[in-house]
Amino acid sequence: MTFVHLLVSLLICITFTSSISVVPDPSTQDLINRICKQTIDFQFCNKTITSQLIRRRTSIKTIAKLTAAKAWINAIETLDNIEGSLLPKAKDRRSKEEFAACRKAYRLVDAHLDNALKYLYLKDYRFMRAYQALALVNISMCRTSFFHPTPMVYANWNMRILTDIAIYAGKILAPPPPLRTKTKKKTP
Ligand SMILES: *[C@@H]1O[C@H](CO)[C@@H](O)[C@H](O)[C@H]1NC(C)=O
Ligand SMILES: *[C@@H]1O[C@H](CO)[C@@H](O)[C@H](O)[C@H]1NC(C)=O
Repeated sequence: MTFVHLLVSLLICITFTSSISVVPDPSTQDLINRICKQTIDFQFCNKTITSQLIRRRTSIKTIAKLTAAKAWINAIETLDNIEGSLLPKAKDRRSKEEFAACRKAYRLVDAHLDNALKYLYLKDYRFMRAYQALALVNISMCRTSFFHPTPMVYANWNMRILTDIAIYAGKILAPPPPLRTKTKKKTP
């Protein structure tokens, strides 16, 4: 199976399972709780992961795959929406500037999550998380304001939490090595 085949099968899998509701078994729900407790919206996170499940018992490896793919797909859809609809239909200068900045940001977000998925496929979870973290940084380049409500306010919030979910799932799958604190000296 090539990388592209993997992406296509993940896409199909997610598209066709999102309407079927599976009730996670206790061990799976426990994993979901551990991930979602770290996010800013437990209910949204719980619903997002549960709606992707195919079986009641799902391993952390599968959850990490599903959530990484979900973030990746969401970045593609968001960029598509900016380029195809928001930017061409922007009415005022402020919205136009915001959407242009978001397009720039989401091109990078998209590229980073592409790489994250590639390293997931290669089972290199440290690189996967590094790229997801870069995506998170670039999401913040798309600046939105609740005082200037545009569709990007929710879209950006959504993208941020989906990326967070993928990162927390990845951290359970492959915990980062412990920090070495003994040899470190504080720099003034
Ligand atoms: C999370 O979702 C599951 C399945 O939909 C539900 O049974 C459970 O009550 C939810 N957890 C919380 C804390 O809301
Ligand atoms: C976005 O990501 C790139 C790396 O791909 C980085 O060089 C750049 O500084 C990031 N932008 C911001 C605003 O963090």
